Amino acid sequence: MIDLRSDTLTQPTPEMRRAIVAAAVGDEQKREDPTVIALEERAAELLGHDEAVFLPTATMANQIALKTLTQPGDEVLAEELAHVFRYELGGPAVHSGLVMKSLSTPHGLFTAEQVREAVNPPGDLHTAPTRLVCFENTHNGGGGRVWPIELIREVVAEARAHDLSVHLDGARLMNASVASGTPAAEYGREFDAVTLCLSKGLGCPLGAVIAGSHERMAKARRYKHLFGGAMRQAGIVAAAGVYALDHHVDRLAEDHANARRLAEGLAEAGLPVDLEQVETNFVQLDAARLGLTADEAVTRLRAEGVLLSFAARKDVLRALTHLDISAEDVEEAIAGTVRAFSSSQRPVELAGEAPTPY
Ligand SMILES: Cc1ncc(COP(=O)(O)O)c(C=O)c1O
Repeated sequence: MIDLRSDTLTQPTPEMRRAIVAAAVGDEQKREDPTVIALEERAAELLGHDEAVFLPTATMANQIALKTLTQPGDEVLAEELAHVFRYELGGPAVHSGLVMKSLSTPHGLFTAEQVREAVNPPGDLHTAPTRLVCFENTHNGGGGRVWPIELIREVVAEARAHDLSVHLDGARLMNASVASGTPAAEYGREFDAVTLCLSKGLGCPLGAVIAGSHERMAKARRYKHLFGGAMRQAGIVAAAGVYALDHHVDRLAEDHANARRLAEGLAEAGLPVDLEQVETNFVQLDAARLGLTADEAVTRLRAEGVLLSFAARKDVLRALTHLDISAEDVEEAIAGTVRAFSSSQRPVELAGEAPTPY
């Protein structure tokens, strides 16, 4: 099976496992774990902030960021497919008493104008005070799209003009950085809080970090403990993070090249892939245009040895390249996908939409 369901599926490499075995550890809750401290220092610098806090998951990192930057009853703006909005089980309401307002976009990137129009009037007695804007880079639901730094600066300036805080869900920020050539710190410095996941493209078994000012991270550490995320000999896992920052960042370019090759191979075979969408390690395949539901398409692919998952939009499948997918795997995946859809090769023309090419 060529497993392209997610970039979270990677196995720790033998070298990463060696780093884990060799890790010096201590009681992380007491700030006595040297490997966690080393990872936090690396992450703070990488993300352009004073301090970083090591956490078990990127979901916890996002939820702590929101709690740190808001008061109960505040309103938060996020893109409609943002992870923090759609896929964290209503955590902002449960953990922090927040109201979420969604911004609609084609690919996850919103504009300064959208923020301006969404902000509730300050002092209004009938609406929740808008307090925070959440960004996601790369944007998962949008198919791994990258925010250009110029657009981020424009939208952040609008948010600041309304006295709003800004948070960056940078679960895949290193993909964005490698694809755009913008250093992660340059992205990170624009925000009050920035998170980074270690268990996606970076290939760790688990772990995430949040970064911000010393004052904000003191609060974040308190919420980490409150949420049950304060650990003990966590250096065992942090060692994988340090290893990944040393060895798995530049190689993300290979994942991006593999995704591009996959998309082009499928498009050349006449399959409905939007080549413009492919900026990082995501490829989207529109099952509806093959006259199939996402379930039917996944079943056919599985029979040909290719595993894809559902994208955020209905009847669209996604393939993610990652550390465990080689250039040869990509060629096999292309061949398997073409076999899977050989009986529905001709893309369906959907009502009211432009026909192919894709
Ligand atoms: C953009 C984004 N943020 C946050 C998360 C949450 O990550 P975790 O599974 O580590 O909680 C994900 C997971 O897919 C994600 O794609």
